[in-house]
Amino acid sequence: MDSLTRRDMLAASAGGIMLPNLLNAPINPKRKRALRIAHLTDIHVQPERGAAKGMEAAIEHAQGQKDKPNMIITGGDLIMDSLGADADRTRTQWSIFTSVLKANLELPVEHTIGNHDVWGWNDRAKYQNESKFGKVWACEVLGLTKPYRSFDKAGWHIIILDSVHRKEGNGYTARLDDEQFEWLQGDLAKVPAKTPILVVSHIPIIAVCSMFDGENEKTGNWVIPGAWVHIDARRIKDLFKKYPNVKMCISGHEHLLDQVVYNGVNYFCNGAVCGGWWGGDYYECTYGYTLIDLFDDGSFENRYVPFGWKTQP
Ligand SMILES: [Fe+2]
Repeated sequence: MDSLTRRDMLAASAGGIMLPNLLNAPINPKRKRALRIAHLTDIHVQPERGAAKGMEAAIEHAQGQKDKPNMIITGGDLIMDSLGADADRTRTQWSIFTSVLKANLELPVEHTIGNHDVWGWNDRAKYQNESKFGKVWACEVLGLTKPYRSFDKAGWHIIILDSVHRKEGNGYTARLDDEQFEWLQGDLAKVPAKTPILVVSHIPIIAVCSMFDGENEKTGNWVIPGAWVHIDARRIKDLFKKYPNVKMCISGHEHLLDQVVYNGVNYFCNGAVCGGWWGGDYYECTYGYTLIDLFDDGSFENRYVPFGWKTQP
């Protein structure tokens, strides 16, 4: 590993090869894998461009691994968009999503909500009196009583957050409201210190790839919108600082790949099943999902797996 240059590593990373977690502690040879997760984020299923087949291909690829994952976690933006779509279009997208899942899913699944899964927030005046306005529709389809929650699995504690916060007027920003933040504080406080924690959010809490999503430096300053990376990252990272057992945070949203280590927590932005919304690669990121191995000593591996999808007309 020592002989690898940084350039080699970036090239390897772009090709989806697994890299050792260089900033983590040396690997304990006695560690045992506790759980293998397939993280499928930003599926953005829609009737066009063969997206349903693409979603199917990603699920099949993940489930067809010789060394099978134990579960799937979806990372949000499950459908192309319902923020500004009418009821018919939203219904069509959810029905594709659920039928592809039903026909192909063999593994247990946990869902995360993304901004595009929220109905009508881009045209609040038109949709706000609908009974399925906002997150109601997505929660109903996904069988969730709340868009955020936590559970224990194979010796790890897994927290699924809801990043999508309604702004005044139309649109959203990336943050936890006070109620969810207080819940998170309480949830973390209950986890035994020896239990490692994985945090899942749709929008990254911290990400570096967002710098390169467009010409964000053109004003002479780096400009990263609050809808791209959690605008409340400061209070979240301050909270995590009290809990060294928070090991790993995973997200989607950017359709890009990165790994940031801050205060000992590893933050991974894990690409997109749909690449650039089924229209090809998005910058350096191609159609893929991530295999995550969680080990009994609190260590982990995070590997992006392209599933070979060819863009459809
Ligand atoms: Fe997305």
